[in-house]
Parts: sequence; structure tokens; C-alpha cells
Amino acid sequence: MKVLVIGSGGREHAISWRLAQSSLVNEVVCVPGNGGTQFENKCRNVKPAAAGIDGFVATAVAEKPDLVVVGPEDPLAAGVADKLWAAGFPTVGPCAKGAHLEASKDFAKQFMSKYGVACAESETFTDAAAARAYVEKKGAPIVIKADGLAAGKGVVVAATKEDALKAIDDFMCDGTLGAAGASVVIEEYLQGVEISILAAVSVTPELAKSGKARIIPFQTARDHKRLMDGAKGPNTGGMGAISPVADVTADQLVQFHDRILKPTLDGLIAEEMDYRGFIFFGIMLTESGPKLLEYNVRLGDPETQAVLPLMDFDFASLCKAITEGTLCDFDIRWKKGFVCAPVVVSGGYPGAYKKGMPITLDEKAIEAAGAKVFVAGAVADESGKGMVTSGGRVLAVSAFGATFDEAWKASYKAMEAVSFKDMFYRKDIGLPGAAESGEL
Ligand code: AMP
Ligand code: GLY
Repeated sequence: MKVLVIGSGGREHAISWRLAQSSLVNEVVCVPGNGGTQFENKCRNVKPAAAGIDGFVATAVAEKPDLVVVGPEDPLAAGVADKLWAAGFPTVGPCAKGAHLEASKDFAKQFMSKYGVACAESETFTDAAAARAYVEKKGAPIVIKADGLAAGKGVVVAATKEDALKAIDDFMCDGTLGAAGASVVIEEYLQGVEISILAAVSVTPELAKSGKARIIPFQTARDHKRLMDGAKGPNTGGMGAISPVADVTADQLVQFHDRILKPTLDGLIAEEMDYRGFIFFGIMLTESGPKLLEYNVRLGDPETQAVLPLMDFDFASLCKAITEGTLCDFDIRWKKGFVCAPVVVSGGYPGAYKKGMPITLDEKAIEAAGAKVFVAGAVADESGKGMVTSGGRVLAVSAFGATFDEAWKASYKAMEAVSFKDMFYRKDIGLPGAAESGEL
């Protein structure tokens, strides 16, 4: 089987690596891929045939893959899965209507409320004066969310009324996020600790009719979005992930299933969606149970780099089952143990940073630690033998251990074998006090 993977981040490196391990897969074509996929067994990087989603479709037509896996949300929201299916390519990733669950926070909140998904109380505004009046009435803390896709910059957890009013002005009057901020969702502030649950989804109207529509959750995971140890400093695209999360109780998982996953499945079915792909539940574990903060319509980054190494099943077969509607019969098993995957970033990130720093990797030491490097922001250097940095988040080292302590030690041992100028990483991924707690 030939698989085409769309995307260029650490998530897509992990997806491509996992697919390449399958005996069913001869080749993984990464569009465009990165410095990690370039050196990965069975993988080949290809530039998209043109810009935009038509470029991905044209690449698929040229490459004739048996299966396409779409990594990021933007092409999904623009309808790449609809076009790929129409061109005859089985595709892992929801149709545009399903992708709207991430592309519009208002749509997501309406969906949650219509189908009874446990979440924060909220209202949506297109008028700044009405939004301000609502904040005056509700008080702080309160959360202001731009409706559209804003690359992680669209949420302000406001400790004071002034901060909330400023966010409304920024998004709605000054247009700091462009069209994405023209309407805002204003949401009740939830306190607790956060987890991520990624899941495989196979829902179509036909599957629903035959009782075979499914959402199958993966092991729990946790991202660490703040830059500094102790969940301090600015937000980032993710400084490291762990899986599974030991502090989640069996009760909380049952509540997640009953109050979040089940009504989501019912909603996808009732809306007659064609959703064959992955879904990401961003969850706050509150005193009154797990509440859904957001849906993403894809795997998480860097959660994927922690969850995929734990899979004790063939990932390519899972992807096939998602597209073929046989997820209901798929036997999902997990390795007993833990993964810790800290991320190393360029100095200055998430502000301005330099690119083009040569990266030294002591492969033997990384292997000896039992770790795997997943590249995000790095490309092959001019010699074609090494890599230079090309982004803020450069790579993750993902290590498995029978206990979390073993995984943690192995990942940080492997991190010592990575070096580039001005590199920075958190030293506390997965440790007590490291999790985002929504604290202001
Ligand atoms: P979202 O993109 O909706 O997941 O929001 C980004 C981040 O903002 C989340 O990961 C949380 O840390 C925080 N956040 C979002 N909604 C809330 C809420 N209702 N209460 C507290 N924190 C929140
Ligand atoms: N780790 C959060 C995300 O993928 O959006």
C-alpha cells in the first residue's frame, strides 16, 4: 500500500513513521514533509503540485496513493477530504462540514449545546457593544474566544474585566485576527487540569444506519503549552506531551465517555456527517467532572508524538478501517507503559527566533536511551546529510518506559544528545505542577 501524508510538522513525522512500520505499507509520500520524514525509512518528501488544497489533490492524482492521511486542520476546513474522496482517494480526515467543529468555535458550541455535550456555558456575539455588556454583567474571570481559526492565538483567558474588554476590542474592533475575530464566543471560566483525548472516528450516514458508526478513544494524553517550567510564561504550540496521564481516574473516563464522547457521536450521526478521521477532545477536568473545551478535527501536536508509540496495533490497518467503515470491529490494544516527549525549541520562541542553526544528534546515545526523535521545524541541510532548524518548535524526543519515571528519565537522557545553538526546552514535562491548570 502507498500512503500519502499531508502536513509538515512533528505530528506528520510521527504519523509517517508509524505508517512506515506497517508490513502493509511499501511507501509513504509526505507532502511536503520535513527534515525528519526525509530521512525516515520508506518515506519520500514531495512538494505539493500547486498551492492550496487543489495542489494536494493534484499531487494525489500524480502519485496515485491507496490512502491519504491529512495531518493539519486548515486543508480539512477548506474541504480537502471532500475533494480527495470525490477524486477516488480514501482519505483519513473529516469532510468540511465536520472540520467546522474546529474551524468555528460558535458552530462547535452550538453542536455541544444541541447534543448535550458537557462544556462551559457560553454566548456568541457579532456586535462588540453587546459583547462588552455581557462581560460587564458576568464579571471576571471569563474567557474570550475568536470564532475562527487563529493558529492558537484566538483565546484569551481574562483574569480581569479590563483584560476581557481589551480582547473584545482587539478581536472585534481592531481586527487583530482578521475575519477570525469578527465574532467571539464568550465563555464561563473553568478551573481544573487539562487533558487531551485523541480518537479514531468512522461515521457516515450508511454506517449509522447499520449501527457501525464509532468513535474509539486512544490513551489519555497531556500537552504542556506554556513555555517555562511550572506552566509559566507565554503560550506556545506545545512544549511536550505525555501519555497516558496517570492522574485521570476511571470515574472521570466513564464520565468522559457518557457526557462527551457519546453525545458527540450522536451529534455526528444526527447531522448526517461524513466524518472518517480523527477527533481531539480538549478537556478540563473540573470538580464537577470533565468538560469539553474544544474539538480539533485532527490528531494533536505534540500529543501524537506521545500516543502513537504506545499503539500495540497496526496504524495503517486502523487508518484503513476508518475509511472502510470497519472501525467497529477493530481491536485497539495499548502497550503497558508510558511515553514522555519533551519538545526542544529555538531560542526566542514563541517570539522572534533564528533559523538555519545546524543540529547535532548523537544517534547512538538516542538509541541507547530507547528514544525516537520526531522532527517538527527542521529541514535537511545543503549536504543532504544533516539538518538545520527551520521553525520555532524544532523536534521532540519521545521515549517509552514501563513506568512514567523510566520514560521521563529516558527522554531527558536522549535530549542531552540533541544540540543546536540557543536551544531551549522545559525540564518538567509530566512532573507534578507542570500541567496547565487554567490558573490565572
Ligand atoms: P481552546 O482553543 O478553546 O482549547 O483554548 C485554548 C486554551 O485556553 C485551553 O487549552 C485552555 O488552557 C484555555 N481555556 C479555553 N477555554 C477555557 C475555559 N472555559 N476556562 C478556562 N480555560 C480555558
Ligand atoms: N496540542 C494541542 C493541539 O494540537 O492543538
